[in-house]
Amino acid sequence: MDIIEKIREIASQKNAVILAHNYQPEEIQKAAHHTGDSLELSRIAAESDADIIVFCGVYFMAESAYILSPQKKIIIPEPDAGCPMADMADPERINEFRAKYPGAKVVCYINSTAAAKAVSDVCCTSSNAVKIISSIDADRIIFIPDKNLGSYVAESTDKEIILWDGYCPIHNARSVDELLAAKSEHGDAEVLMHPECPKELRDLADRILSTGEMVSYCRDNKGKKFIIATENGMIYKLKSEAPENEYIQVTTDFICPDMKKITLEKLYNSLINEEPSVTVDPEIADKAYSSLDKMLKMS
Ligand code: 13P
Ligand code: SF4
Repeated sequence: MDIIEKIREIASQKNAVILAHNYQPEEIQKAAHHTGDSLELSRIAAESDADIIVFCGVYFMAESAYILSPQKKIIIPEPDAGCPMADMADPERINEFRAKYPGAKVVCYINSTAAAKAVSDVCCTSSNAVKIISSIDADRIIFIPDKNLGSYVAESTDKEIILWDGYCPIHNARSVDELLAAKSEHGDAEVLMHPECPKELRDLADRILSTGEMVSYCRDNKGKKFIIATENGMIYKLKSEAPENEYIQVTTDFICPDMKKITLEKLYNSLINEEPSVTVDPEIADKAYSSLDKMLKMS
């Protein structure tokens, strides 16, 4: 029996479900029961009847699963897998912003801490940000923490968007030159880009999509060539879901190091020991639940 079979066997004995984000290493995606983007995985976590959720992703994702399903045991095989952008917005500064812009509503990207979600009005992910902001009952929105996703949303709505100064260090570091090089080598390819990329790159893309939306788009458009302008874990995901297409990386170092901290061995051990588990202070969890639950109802 190989390690993936053993992981699956223990998971079924313990009524555990293994969730993996689309950026996870290939072998973790193979071991998982479900893979998806942040919204898809949040929904599965909220609706699952498993006793244990093992979250293969970064910390805020496991934390969100706990907030949505506090009666379940939530395990993350590597608790040091963080998201640097999530740490760029703290509740004190968010409240200062609120005081500065009276009447504005705070929309919090799910890539944030539980404490930031707790002082926000509603959460969003990259796949529903435009929809959530368009339907919220305020003309002025403070958008935290991603300035790139925020500026993308601002282009698609009539609302006034007040941007925070956070960003994803991985997407924000991509250069126009490297994208132009990929485009000139593969002139027949369509560029699918994540909205965490800066505007000067987004302006060169054909479509701006969340990771889950990239999967649906490639499934619906077969026999094509795509430049995938997001973390390279997506290439495995897309090849397994829509193998009829050709996928090109923008650069080999489009890698989120935190997403790669989870290994099969850590996954196996976390299932056996049922730790490291994730919990959130009940008062914070309660308030953060309201922002996440509103998002799920609105999207
Ligand atoms: P998605 O929700 O599109 O999968 O994005 C999550 C993320 O962390 C992107 O860097
Ligand atoms: Fe965070 Fe960026 Fe990694 Fe996504 S790719 S988890 S936003 S650091």
